[in-house]
Amino acid sequence: MTVKLTLPAQSEMLSKDFIYGVATASFQIEGGKDSRLPCIWDTFCNTANKIADGSNGEIACDHFTRWQDDIELIDSLGVDAYRLSISWPRVINESGEINQTGVNYYLNILKHLESNNIKAFVTLYHWDLPQHLEDKGGWLNRETAFKFRDYVDLISKAFSNKVHAYATLNEPFCSAFLGYEVGVHAPGIVGKEFGKKAAHHLLLAHGLAMKVLAINSPNSLNGIVLNFTPCYPESKSLEDIKATTFADDYFNQWYIKPLFDGKYPHILSQLPAEHQPVIHDGDMEIIAHKMDFLGVNFYTRAIYRADADEHFIQITPPEPRTDIGWEIYPKAFTELLVSLNERYRLPPIYITENGAAMADEIIDGVVNDQDRVDYYQQHLNAVNDAIEQGVSVKGYFAWSLMDNFEWAEGYLKRFGIVHVDYETQIRTIKNSGIAYKALITSR
Ligand code: NOJ
Repeated sequence: MTVKLTLPAQSEMLSKDFIYGVATASFQIEGGKDSRLPCIWDTFCNTANKIADGSNGEIACDHFTRWQDDIELIDSLGVDAYRLSISWPRVINESGEINQTGVNYYLNILKHLESNNIKAFVTLYHWDLPQHLEDKGGWLNRETAFKFRDYVDLISKAFSNKVHAYATLNEPFCSAFLGYEVGVHAPGIVGKEFGKKAAHHLLLAHGLAMKVLAINSPNSLNGIVLNFTPCYPESKSLEDIKATTFADDYFNQWYIKPLFDGKYPHILSQLPAEHQPVIHDGDMEIIAHKMDFLGVNFYTRAIYRADADEHFIQITPPEPRTDIGWEIYPKAFTELLVSLNERYRLPPIYITENGAAMADEIIDGVVNDQDRVDYYQQHLNAVNDAIEQGVSVKGYFAWSLMDNFEWAEGYLKRFGIVHVDYETQIRTIKNSGIAYKALITSR
């Protein structure tokens, strides 16, 4: 059986201008812990019972030393672009000055990508906040937004023209809600009074950074990466529908509406005063800075039921599910893109992440991950359907280039299209990687 990914012959996704890429993030792959400042994920990993397998990011995929081979690997997949993130604690000292050694590390990567004709999509914050900033309150401290702006100013000057696209933040929902409200991500803070405050400071940081990027890097595409988990009601009852709309406003619209409409969803006023963010005059204008692109990360949907005490409760999703328990429901991807396009005046969209954790086995050097190939096929079709319905999607990135540190799941969940043996650091392209390459190079 041949492992294949296909698209309809007329699909815009088969044009040479459509960008295909692979994505990673610094903390998840780099290791090289001794040559940077500690970040909140180091601390979180060192706290008992936070990471499923008790692991950490000290070595990860050892990309810090193997980056040259990894760029060859990326090149061998035939992709147009590579989405990577910059470790803030690697490039900025505690005093706020540039750490030139750390900057050189990324400059070398950018140079190698350029010489291989691979476009760099750089994420400036993919969750690895310097620990010394967390010690001063992290994203609950408004000052952190200004520290982020200063870091972006220095790094975008240092990178000058080597970056095709900058995303300020990756998934601020995860940083704010998972990190400061339910505490399952670093820094592990719990309380409804914290989540929306952290979210506001993250969005403020984004807006401040957009202004800096517009000056320092006017030729790159500058934007943000948001994750969406579209919300569906369990039943057609009015209560379930209302509960679902509330959940959607709380988890999804909360992060996109301020960017395009300059305001939070109206449920803001339904939140107890102590749960609301602290908004200063002018903040919403800063947050709504014009963007060149919107990055969309999609994996799954969520189903809600009304609840008398809480506004909503999420129910266990039906099968089929991936190895991380997320329902496979590609229709939600099309519906999401179409509805965002109807609701907001969007710039072009890039799918900055999509992919699946599967229980891979490597047998005689082969990973026959047909389940992941099927996931990609269904989701590529879903994006194509959205494009046919008028949504402007310009690119698609597989998450992830290779298996890596999956946050609170440690190394137990594999999202790569390349298998990583963590003992030997040997990389093996899975069948999904072979199929992805065949699709890209067939254009
Ligand atoms: C979202 C994040 O951006 C990435 O870091 C993570 O590994 C994947 N999704 C899968 O959970």
